[in-house]
Amino acid sequence: MTGDIHFSKEDFGDDFSWGVATAAYQIEGAVDKDGRGPCVWDKFARVKGKIKNGDNASISCDFYHHYESDIELVRTLGFKEFRFSISWSRILSQGFGEVNEAGIAFYNKLIDKCLSLDIVPWITLYHWDLPQGLEDLGGWKNRKILEWFESYATICAKAFGDRVKKWIILNEPMAVAGLGYTTGLHAPGRKSISNFLPVVHHLAMCQAIGGEVIRRNVADAYIGTAISCSYVHAASADLKDVRAAKRADALMNRLFVEPALGLGYPANAFSFLGNIKKYMHAGDAERLRFDFDFIGIQNYFSVVVKHSYLAPVVWLKEVPAKLRNVPITAMGWEVSGDGMYDILKQFDAYEGIREIIVSENGAAYQDHVEGNAVHDFDRTSFYQEYLNAILKAKNEGVNVKGYLAWTLMDNFEWAEGYAARFGLVYVDFQSQKRIIKDSGKWFSSFLKD
Ligand code: NOJ
Repeated sequence: MTGDIHFSKEDFGDDFSWGVATAAYQIEGAVDKDGRGPCVWDKFARVKGKIKNGDNASISCDFYHHYESDIELVRTLGFKEFRFSISWSRILSQGFGEVNEAGIAFYNKLIDKCLSLDIVPWITLYHWDLPQGLEDLGGWKNRKILEWFESYATICAKAFGDRVKKWIILNEPMAVAGLGYTTGLHAPGRKSISNFLPVVHHLAMCQAIGGEVIRRNVADAYIGTAISCSYVHAASADLKDVRAAKRADALMNRLFVEPALGLGYPANAFSFLGNIKKYMHAGDAERLRFDFDFIGIQNYFSVVVKHSYLAPVVWLKEVPAKLRNVPITAMGWEVSGDGMYDILKQFDAYEGIREIIVSENGAAYQDHVEGNAVHDFDRTSFYQEYLNAILKAKNEGVNVKGYLAWTLMDNFEWAEGYAARFGLVYVDFQSQKRIIKDSGKWFSSFLKD
């Protein structure tokens, strides 16, 4: 089933956390159940042509009803930690106003189920599913979101903070600003470069505000935020390409971590970002800073970029992995353990980062069910290659303290719908049957005590 690997769980140390990550919108289904209000993805998925094959997440894995057996699967796979996100519109149907007690009750049951199995719960406060009620008021472009988010975070901290100590404030804010509000490929599907900077600033502010809320309300909290990152290579040594690579790096890797560390936005590599000042109020520069206990890095691939006159504002384009003769996943992403190693080193070089958690990493491949099995050899080797790279970085002193695999089970992969399967567990979306893939079995033997 697997190739030879030359490391064991013990090599990562006793204090290393092993978990799986999920997100509410991708797995829960039950979108109209028990007082949940609509979120931007519910609306977006109804717009023709936005989601592959016209899929939507109204049912998805129906985790809302299967959460007990699904959390038992986390245990079966050998993981001791489970990351999930809270659906904002289950807690506050319009995003603000009266608390929906049924929403709180659902997450209480989920948390208690984790604890009963000795699984450490991790909460992500925001994983892309903005209540539609807030989007109707301008969403992330409206500065009022600072107050909306603070209230929502406070409700969650008070409701769950007695039992949940590990908190991730935002998940991949760059995707929200870039795909959600600039290219329109993700919900809410707004497409204008003029949205980018205000949305970035409001997200970065909420990242810090959320941190403060959890610190104030949750004793002994371990607080982080999760950032998408990809090591950037310039396509050539030509100065134009080198500068393009620096701009891509500022956007993809530095944009949200640097303000949190008190370093401001990386306008030194990409002058366009300097215009963000227009959206900053007095005192914001200071409020952007928060002393995170850890930074979550989410790495899947590295990129190669070159200068392009055809892409206004950024003046760069990616050289797609499929044209570079490198191994790729079903998403067309380059498989590169070296990329993981490089990005860990890059983040570790920031003095202000205390600890790093790899808060997501995984791969989509075309899976085939054979009887009651899925022989996903490629996914298993992907995990082995990346874990090997993480261990190498760790052995060289990078302070990486945990690994959360993406993801427990196949789910709604945003604009890709159900076409891209990232799970360690296969899901038949018609019957809701789950099958542990060989990659899941590999983890369970690797993680065995
Ligand atoms: C990043 C996102 O956080 C997650 O929701 C997504 O499914 C994975 N990457 C894979 O694309």
